[in-house]
Amino acid sequence: MILKTTTLLIITIICCAFVAFAAEKHVSEKDLGSAQMILPGGIPGDVPFNHRLHQEHLNDCTLCHDLFPEKAGIIEKLKAENKLKKKQVMNIQCVRCHRDTKREGKDSGPITCSGCHSIK
Ligand code: HEC
Ligand code: HEC
Ligand code: HEC
Repeated sequence: MILKTTTLLIITIICCAFVAFAAEKHVSEKDLGSAQMILPGGIPGDVPFNHRLHQEHLNDCTLCHDLFPEKAGIIEKLKAENKLKKKQVMNIQCVRCHRDTKREGKDSGPITCSGCHSIK
């Protein structure tokens, strides 16, 4: 009887460890999307965007993806459907964060138009 209980306990522990391992693996295999992208930027020109740099530096997907889902082309799609205003992502995410981090004296990104809209 004692032996049976012990065996059961060991099996339970092994199962838990496996589930925890699988869950962890799932997180590390999260789709990070493209490392580098070019965002359509209208008349002043397109915007090269280093997605991976931001993911690694900020370490929080929701800083951007609370506003739009993790899907290629989704910003343009939501703008066309009037679910996002033109320049909304630019103003409340890109530029706001660069301005704030610059003010705090930390590493930051461009805040001038041509600093981002660099592809004609
Ligand atoms: C600084 C802003 C920002 C952060 C932080 C960010 N993303 Fe993104 N992500 C974007 C932008 C911009 C797009 C492009 C949307 C579009 O094409 O309309 C995008 C698109 C994507 C896509 C689809 C595009 C593709 O290349 O397949 C995936 C998947 C994605 N992000 C995953 C993530 C994950 C996972 C994290 C966190 C580890 C993350 N993102 C953090 C801005 C960000
Ligand atoms: C930190 C990067 C960044 C800076 C700085 C920046 N932009 Fe943008 N801009 C973007 C991104 C990304 C988009 C596309 C997403 C959006 O519309 O919010 C965009 C979109 C635009 C659009 C197109 C909107 C549309 O849908 O037709 C215009 C026009 C524009 N920006 C003008 C400017 C001007 C003018 C400045 C300087 C005062 C400026 N941008 C500075 C990143 C930037
Ligand atoms: C929450 C903060 C945050 C948001 C949102 C953000 N950035 Fe940045 N960005 C940074 C920081 C921090 C750096 C500097 C990273 C470094 O030097 O390691 C940076 C650097 C950059 C650079 C210069 C580095 C390079 O890739 O050449 C560009 C261009 C840039 N960001 C564009 C954008 C655009 C376009 C968006 C919006 C789609 C955006 N960023 C949104 C924080 C942010």
